[in-house]
Amino acid sequence: MASFFRRTIAAKLGRTLQQPEDVFIPALTAITVLKKQQESPDFKLSLGTLRGNGVLPSHGDIQQQTEHLASQLKEDSVVEGITTGKAVINFKVNRKLLAEKLLEPFGKGEDDKFGLNSELLDSLKRGTTLVEYSSPNIAKKFHAGHLRSTIIGNFIANLKETLGNKVIRMNYLGDWGMQFGLLGAGFGQFGSVEKLKENPLQHLFEVYVQVNKEAEHNPDVKQAARVFFKQLEQHESQAVSLWQQFREITVKEYRHVYKRLGVHFDVYSGESFHQDQAQEAVRQLQSRGLLKTSEKGTGVVDLSPHGDMSSVCTLLRSDGTSLYITRDIAAAIDRKEKYCFDEMIYVTDKSQENHFSQLFQILRAMGHSWADGCRHVSFGLVQGMKTRTGDVVFLEDVLDEVRARTLQNMSQTNTTKELEDADDTAEKVGISALIVRDFKGSLHSDYKFDWERILQSQGDTGVFLQYTHARLCSLMRKNEGLAAATFNPSLLGEQTSISVLQHLLRYEEVLHQSAQDLEPKHLVNFLLKLSHFIASAHRELPVKGSQHDVAQARLRLFSGACSVLANGMRILGITPLNKM
Ligand code: ARG
Repeated sequence: MASFFRRTIAAKLGRTLQQPEDVFIPALTAITVLKKQQESPDFKLSLGTLRGNGVLPSHGDIQQQTEHLASQLKEDSVVEGITTGKAVINFKVNRKLLAEKLLEPFGKGEDDKFGLNSELLDSLKRGTTLVEYSSPNIAKKFHAGHLRSTIIGNFIANLKETLGNKVIRMNYLGDWGMQFGLLGAGFGQFGSVEKLKENPLQHLFEVYVQVNKEAEHNPDVKQAARVFFKQLEQHESQAVSLWQQFREITVKEYRHVYKRLGVHFDVYSGESFHQDQAQEAVRQLQSRGLLKTSEKGTGVVDLSPHGDMSSVCTLLRSDGTSLYITRDIAAAIDRKEKYCFDEMIYVTDKSQENHFSQLFQILRAMGHSWADGCRHVSFGLVQGMKTRTGDVVFLEDVLDEVRARTLQNMSQTNTTKELEDADDTAEKVGISALIVRDFKGSLHSDYKFDWERILQSQGDTGVFLQYTHARLCSLMRKNEGLAAATFNPSLLGEQTSISVLQHLLRYEEVLHQSAQDLEPKHLVNFLLKLSHFIASAHRELPVKGSQHDVAQARLRLFSGACSVLANGMRILGITPLNKM
């Protein structure tokens, strides 16, 4: 694997400079392969990084230092070429070994471990990670922001799990607040138990919209809502039982829709769980002298750097009830106690950046130093995500739309007719397209949504990834008889093969980088590029009609590439398809 070469080169450097080999690992990177295929080295060592780390003295001319170090290094049977560039030393490894080491795991049934046994990845901290994502609000709209949170959080959870962490996947429902007062008050008038069972999300939303409209001109409804919510807060059994019904039915429905999307949660928590704890957290703040009463009678925490109340955060309304942030403080403390996480990641759109920065600040002020392990992953807005029937209100709308559109596109190709379950395939392809579009750029940027573009089969889309994967699977199906435990790595010497292999060398670095900034774009772009290299290999390296041992070696190359593609897709939250 890649780590074999990294270690060998690091050891060589260690011997030459009389330093432990570990220090060279972070300074060594696999060289990005250019589209224009030409012979190029495989790894480069950055002298700048070594000077920055204190491994090399940081004074003197860096180029002289580079040339000097390079001249001390000797080529051998693994590293066949050592050259220098601008403050870098390039290493070219033996071509036969490159194929042998990289493609070795695929003959041993260790396909899903590819790239994971790596010094580079070992340098990452491992532990328990709690990822909170999706977190829609009951009876309210599920908007594009919730969809983004769902797929981004799922990606982060998958990535963390792949890298050996224990992961807790949590959905924190907006299951508390005045909307339940309104729902409770309005359900008798506008609700129907039957409709609630039939289509719960839609029905609750409808009742909520209707009762809101009514409340606008009817103060009695407003008053009834307040009374109902108060009853809820005081745990009165009738109110609680209705609320519970709303919640249970909603969760059941959501579970079902998330399943279509390929997403699951270990815990469905929610704001309602932390009512009482919120009051307890407020008492703790009080006893530390951190809670002040404002002129309006609200309870606030002073977050200004000079303690002059120029920036405060409200935790209690004047009637003593808690707010969104108060419940978040309580929820964080509760999660720490329950799950002993080493890190907790919240995924929401960027409009909540201030909220989370205040949350972490307050937790720290309360003496919870573990708040340093909390992180908010925020993302930009999606503009123009509409379905044929109008605005997106439910997650299901998006999934239905993506399925219908993909099905229509697929029906124009012949192969679709042979599919057993075209609906299901279309849905999975469509979801891949959504995910790839969403993950291609930086999370923080906003983007404009365009159905036509995301579903193009040519170009850098999720459809292209699925198509590449399905094509490789078909190649393997057709040549099943050829697959063997061994292969001759000397037969993969063409530049087309080398490019695929060199690109695979980068996989562990891509995972490493993703683990650091939690951006899915590195992996998406790696997989898209891999698919382009595979397309060239598919054109130029036929299996059928080639000599037996050549065909066998090529098949191994394709099967390795296919596994890495599938592994990467799964981390992104995409189910790789064997046929399409
Ligand atoms: N339900 C919230 C919303 O829809 C998102 C919750 C985010 N998580 C949290 N712990 N505050 O805006």
